[in-house]
Amino acid sequence: MATTYFIETYGCEMNKSDSIDIALSFQTRGFEEVSCEDDADVIVLNTCSVRGHAVERVFGRLGYYRSLRTRRRGEPLIVLAGCMAQEQSDRIMELFPEIKVVAGTYHYMHIPDAVREYGRTRNPVVLTDREQYDFSPFKGSRAEGHSAWVNIIMGCSNYCSYCIVPHLRGPEKSKPAGAVIDEVRQLAARGVVEITLLGQNVNAYGRESGDIGFADLLERINDIEGIQWIRFLTSHPRDFDHDIVRRIAGLEKVCNHVHLPLQSGSDRILSLMNRQYTLDHYRSVLDSIRTHFSDAAITTDLIVGFPTESDEDFAMTLDVVREVRYDDAFTYRYSSRPFTGASELATTYDTAAAGRRLEELIELQRSISHQRNEDEIGKRATVLIERESKKNASEMLCKTGKNKMVIVPTDLGPGRFIDVEIESIAGNTLRAREVRAV
Ligand code: SAM
Ligand code: SF4
Ligand code: F3S
Repeated sequence: MATTYFIETYGCEMNKSDSIDIALSFQTRGFEEVSCEDDADVIVLNTCSVRGHAVERVFGRLGYYRSLRTRRRGEPLIVLAGCMAQEQSDRIMELFPEIKVVAGTYHYMHIPDAVREYGRTRNPVVLTDREQYDFSPFKGSRAEGHSAWVNIIMGCSNYCSYCIVPHLRGPEKSKPAGAVIDEVRQLAARGVVEITLLGQNVNAYGRESGDIGFADLLERINDIEGIQWIRFLTSHPRDFDHDIVRRIAGLEKVCNHVHLPLQSGSDRILSLMNRQYTLDHYRSVLDSIRTHFSDAAITTDLIVGFPTESDEDFAMTLDVVREVRYDDAFTYRYSSRPFTGASELATTYDTAAAGRRLEELIELQRSISHQRNEDEIGKRATVLIERESKKNASEMLCKTGKNKMVIVPTDLGPGRFIDVEIESIAGNTLRAREVRAV
């Protein structure tokens, strides 16, 4: 009988994308996926370390898996993978000796071999060196339905002072353009119509490798037959220059949604964060986006409670949020992380104040997001059908180019594009009627 595996994933899209590669590497070595951890011989936790909360969740799960051992006959082999594995494998293995394989951020593809090695030797296998990074060998097989992620740049060289990611994922490494194009072609041949290009800073694509740049890459992908929508995550405001904006906005397959993390509306805090742009620069990038893209949705990431953030600094963040009117925002309370510059800043950090600031920010953004959604009523849009609505099988959950979810009654199935007119909003969900099948 095949050895079975179950993967649990935390963290960002890059980690979710890595989990697809982990699954494929298991499958090519004869392992079989199961949908419930109770049935798995091997349980992989692909972890995130970006905030303390993400780490605590994984500790909670490890505790749960320990209790699982007593409920079942065979003991599952636990694999700790991803960012936490890179950060603190020694400490975690001491606390949870049932972890038999540790695979850091350069080794997610080596997990099945490490599992086999443990099976042979009964010695725990720890892979955390960062000597050689191999890009995923899987291309078309990474397709999961009509959409796919494509990693174009690994790691990050920015060292924002609050962020642990560069310390765990290493410096930027761009996937060769030929390999990216080949992957997208193979995905298109499998029926993928929407791709999302991934990287911590996609605008830096090709910079360290001397390959073509991000806009050139998008131009080539735009020519690939079968692909109809192109998205990308994440843009760094410092590197998203006017030329890139102008060139990619002219490509008909690039969706009119840009995720542009601001982090703080105070220049003083931005400088302490080592973000390497000012608010004026950020505004000028936004102006470019709004000039060149037609009706773009803008989303962002914001941190409150960064060390030394004053009421005035926070008020500036609220002002920018009101001014930009983001379609949506991911809002976080600052979390001190090991290795980072900000963790050494003398802090006037007051957790209660940061909590109140976060609530105020969330409340403001919630009302703006709602208004932004109301602005869509009466507009026509092309939407991609995602899946059946949970509440009503004759309605489909669809996504607009602006990345807004819309409910549409239609007979067509997932992966099809239809034109709709947005008619109403209930809670935060837009509803639309089909106008014409594409
Ligand atoms: N590379 C992207 C960028 O530069 O915007 C995003 C990377 S990070 C995985 C996603 C978000 O987590 C960041 O944009 C930031 O808002 C937040 N984040 C990162 N480190 C954090 C920390 N120590 N505390 C709170 N939020 C943090
Ligand atoms: Fe972290 Fe900054 Fe890199 Fe984003 S750009 S991953 S926030 S260091
Ligand atoms: Fe978390 Fe690592 Fe992504 S720390 S946010 S999983 S790069």
